[in-house]
Amino acid sequence: MSKKITDRITWVGKTDWELKKFHGDEFTTVSGSTYNSYLIRDEKIALIDTAWLPYDKEFVSNLKEEIDLSKINYVIALHGEIDHSGALIELMNQMPKNTPIYCTANGVKSIKGQYHKDWNFQVVKTGDTLKLGETTLTFIEAPMLHWPDTMFAYLSKENVLFSSDGFGQHFASEHLYADQVDQDKLYKEAIKYYANILAPFGMIAIKKINEVLAMNLPINMICPSHGLIWRENPTQIVKKYLEWAGNYQENQITILYDTMWNDTRKMAEAIAKGIQNKDKEVTIKLMNTAKDDKTDVLTEVFKSKMILVGSPTVNNGYLHSIAGILEMIKGMKLKNKKAVAFGSYGWSGEAVKQITEYLKIAGFDVVNEGIRCMWTPDKQLEKELIGFGEKLV
Ligand code: FEO
Repeated sequence: MSKKITDRITWVGKTDWELKKFHGDEFTTVSGSTYNSYLIRDEKIALIDTAWLPYDKEFVSNLKEEIDLSKINYVIALHGEIDHSGALIELMNQMPKNTPIYCTANGVKSIKGQYHKDWNFQVVKTGDTLKLGETTLTFIEAPMLHWPDTMFAYLSKENVLFSSDGFGQHFASEHLYADQVDQDKLYKEAIKYYANILAPFGMIAIKKINEVLAMNLPINMICPSHGLIWRENPTQIVKKYLEWAGNYQENQITILYDTMWNDTRKMAEAIAKGIQNKDKEVTIKLMNTAKDDKTDVLTEVFKSKMILVGSPTVNNGYLHSIAGILEMIKGMKLKNKKAVAFGSYGWSGEAVKQITEYLKIAGFDVVNEGIRCMWTPDKQLEKELIGFGEKLV
């Protein structure tokens, strides 16, 4: 069902209430998501993005209820990822053959690479414009936010920035606008999206945001390709992005662990007790990486000033959930965060040293060589672990 945004702009996307996983199995989307597509009607008519492949027929069928497809003059592909370009084949099969698709040079590569079609691609770069009538679209390349092909588009007169994945959230709603939903939930999804998808590109995000701000464009609305539209004080999310992209940290310490017979869990809890003894203000989160949602784990790591990572030694290494989460954390390319390792063992005990080395590779400032516990912590060792936690703060 389409929804009118202004007299010229209509939302023609898809709300995916049941989406629970995104990027394969990588990203949990507990609030569902949307694939936002926008129809702009002026003397010329442009369609910005489409929807994810499983909804291609539904998307095109709904679009046909809104407009005769032959009346659409231009298709704009801000980003070639399948959640936005997936309905292109169905759409182009039903549109006049030569309808141009505007995208970046990298957009041509990604779209051709996925669909193997020789459509009428029109390559645009930063500053190129497309006059629709009274309004004009200006394109702004935004490579790595979050693919090399990504671009933004700005619509004059309406003063709307179409920002692709940037400023988006995986958030299905009956509403269109960010100001209509629970703000805590909105920002929880927005920071989760940033931490899990855009965090590695923080420096690029800052540069791009400053470039857009320097253009002094009036902005009435920011329309991302996922989730809710920023209408009330739309640059609030831009300010948040500048904060998040600037080596963000809260007063939080997150303790990640996996455990076989609860010894490493007991270590985690004793260390947490020590931290709390010394600092009543700091937020402490304990997360079992085998049980907690990995997307949430990464979000908490993103918010932390320090992380602790613990695993028992097994087969001369560490547990697979810790290995997996460390690999994901390394990919976030976080800066300005401290870390330390811990873990129990029965005989060889290599895990703590190995985790310590990995944390260094992942760019963390490792504060000491970590702490190990042979077998189950007794009262004496529990005291040592509490002392270890106290020293960390
Ligand atoms: Fe929502 Fe990078 O696609």
